[in-house]
Amino acid sequence: MPSSEIPLNWNRLVRLTHRWLSIVFTLTVIANFVARAQTGGAEPSPWITYSPLPPLAVMLLTGLYLFALPYIAKQRSNEP
Ligand code: HEM
Repeated sequence: MPSSEIPLNWNRLVRLTHRWLSIVFTLTVIANFVARAQTGGAEPSPWITYSPLPPLAVMLLTGLYLFALPYIAKQRSNEP
């Protein structure tokens, strides 16, 4: 396989990561609502406040990768 080709398994892994992180991200957002309800609207621990950010950061990267995939595939199929 030429080194410029990305194996299909890698694309699958990126999609799976994006898919499961969406659940993790959703749970951290729900945790924020629950924590804020329990503290009467006051700021909860920073660990809870900022917990959605790491999964969101990885989702941004994997999401942009997934977005680019069809265009890269199209470009490759046009190559001689
Ligand atoms: C942070 C920026 C994000 C970007 C740029 C992004 C981008 C994308 C793209 C391009 C796809 C593929 C669509 C296709 O199949 O053509 C996708 C799939 C998906 N995204 Fe995101 N996304 C982001 C964040 C999120 C968030 C916050 C969630 C939910 C909490 C989410 C949930 C999903 C799910 C469930 C899929 C389907 C995955 C699969 O095919 O198994 N994404 N996203």
